[in-house]
Amino acid sequence: MKKLVIAIDGYSSCGKSTTAKAVAAVLHYAYLDTGAMYRAVTLYLLENNISFDDLPRIEQALHELHISFRRHRRTGRNEVYLNDKIREDDIRQMRISNAVSEVSVIPVVRHAMVAQQQRIGRRRGVVMDGRDIGTTVFPDAEVKVFMTADVEVRARRREEELAAKGEIVPLEVIIENLRKRDRIDSTRAESPLRRAADAVLLDTTHITIDEQVDFVLERVSAALFG
Ligand code: DC
Repeated sequence: MKKLVIAIDGYSSCGKSTTAKAVAAVLHYAYLDTGAMYRAVTLYLLENNISFDDLPRIEQALHELHISFRRHRRTGRNEVYLNDKIREDDIRQMRISNAVSEVSVIPVVRHAMVAQQQRIGRRRGVVMDGRDIGTTVFPDAEVKVFMTADVEVRARRREEELAAKGEIVPLEVIIENLRKRDRIDSTRAESPLRRAADAVLLDTTHITIDEQVDFVLERVSAALFG
């Protein structure tokens, strides 16, 4: 059967990655969390005390760092590795969420990440979630979904995720972070977060994960069988 590229873009914490992972599992497709890549670059810059405006040093850093994903044998969870060291939990911390949008505006960072994403998806059969997959990374993706949800609902979901990992963050702080990231992600010059003209809108405020997954799978059926 023809293999597709499925692009799931949208605002932070709308359930993009949960939906994308489930869709990939049903279709036996690869799953790529592109946000994790920007988070890994941010972690590297912070840990090496590289200023976000030191462009020559950032370019050098992009040559030094190697981002990969491996599936955990027992849990099946896809985990991010930075220079062959597992960093999955570290990249989800609030200090990274607070800095990642500033790193994602840097054109050399975007060019390097987009090139790697395009390499990973070149054989198709992949579900990618991010901000610019349907517009920049794979403008020819057969299925494009743009997810949005009420900011308070998104913040509550994020609060639960962080709490499950032992990081207690007040709801107002999370709402502020989401608003800030939405603003920076949507207004940056280089491949800003925006809905591709041919992306279908999915508002997840009042629907369950199963409904989100079914919605995407229906689009996949339509793309495959008309
Ligand atoms: O999906 P996430 O919240 O883990 O993404 C973290 C940040 O990375 C997000 O605020 C903006 C950036 N990002 C991006 O600029 N382009 C992508 N394709 C994915 C994420």
